[in-house]
Amino acid sequence: MKPIARRSFLINTLKIGAVLPLTGIPFSLLADSPEETKSARQENKGSKEENISNKYKATATPDRLILTLTEDPSTSMTINWRTADTAGENFVEYTVADAHPVFVNKVQQEKAVGRNFHFESIMAKNHSITLKGLLPATVYSYRVGAENDWSEWMQFRTAEKSGAQAKISFIYLGDAQVGIRPLWSRVIRKAYAANPDASLVIHAGDLVNRANKDEEWGDWFAAGSFIHSTIPALVTPGNHEYTHEDGKPHLSVYWKEQFQLPANGPANPLLAGSCYYADIQGVRFISLNTQMLEEAQTQDCITHQVEWLHQVLKSNPRGWTCVTMHHPVFSTKGVGITSR
Ligand SMILES: [Fe+2]
Repeated sequence: MKPIARRSFLINTLKIGAVLPLTGIPFSLLADSPEETKSARQENKGSKEENISNKYKATATPDRLILTLTEDPSTSMTINWRTADTAGENFVEYTVADAHPVFVNKVQQEKAVGRNFHFESIMAKNHSITLKGLLPATVYSYRVGAENDWSEWMQFRTAEKSGAQAKISFIYLGDAQVGIRPLWSRVIRKAYAANPDASLVIHAGDLVNRANKDEEWGDWFAAGSFIHSTIPALVTPGNHEYTHEDGKPHLSVYWKEQFQLPANGPANPLLAGSCYYADIQGVRFISLNTQMLEEAQTQDCITHQVEWLHQVLKSNPRGWTCVTMHHPVFSTKGVGITSR
């Protein structure tokens, strides 16, 4: 299927589902020009030299702490963080929040899953854990780490259990990629200040400019700071999360290591960690991977995603559906533009 035909296929699919009542599409995402994508590919080829500086060196103290959505954020929450690869077992301690500094409520401890991350000159370990059996609509306090290397205590609030009529708000951000420290840091903090009770933050692709550049990921985590570890994220990859060293698209080596996401997507490894959904109160949030529509190497990769989307739309028990993807459904740019 030609790229433009793929886009039409997706448009028709979304019309059938009568979706997108809530999705906002940032102006700058109204299609990537071939020049932009070509530039990104060239930049990504140079990532090896760029990573030698290792500006954000991992230590024993947890950093890059971020909450990611689960399929049901009313009773579960996934926590992700990073340490040096020399760190031992890491844990999460959590409890229903109270005002006492040493916590009156019982603090529970669970061991995280740690994965060494060795890429070029980067030596680190990524940790993650999904807390289950949580109480709906409840504020939890938590910290991560081990022994004398704990993070500060953070807080998050679980979603209401059904909440068909419950108020919900979320923050939508796209294309952080350029000017992360001078500009995006102010954008996400202003968004949080305006919406401190948001149930999730949607990052709709191009979080960084060069998919495998550690410094840019470090900038992204630093700019988001405690917001990342307070409100769960729904992350969707854009074209800048892909590299093309051998001419084929490869999702950033960082993506699935630092973002543990719901495994309820299509049965296709090329779509893992990018196609998934989460039900939050009255809304089903769906993440699509439109880069794998643009650059799919086989028809199977397209068919799997389209069929999965149909099934997820048909089975949606919630009153609303919000679909997020990096590419726009409608573009102000000319017909026939592709990322190739
Ligand atoms: Fe893009």
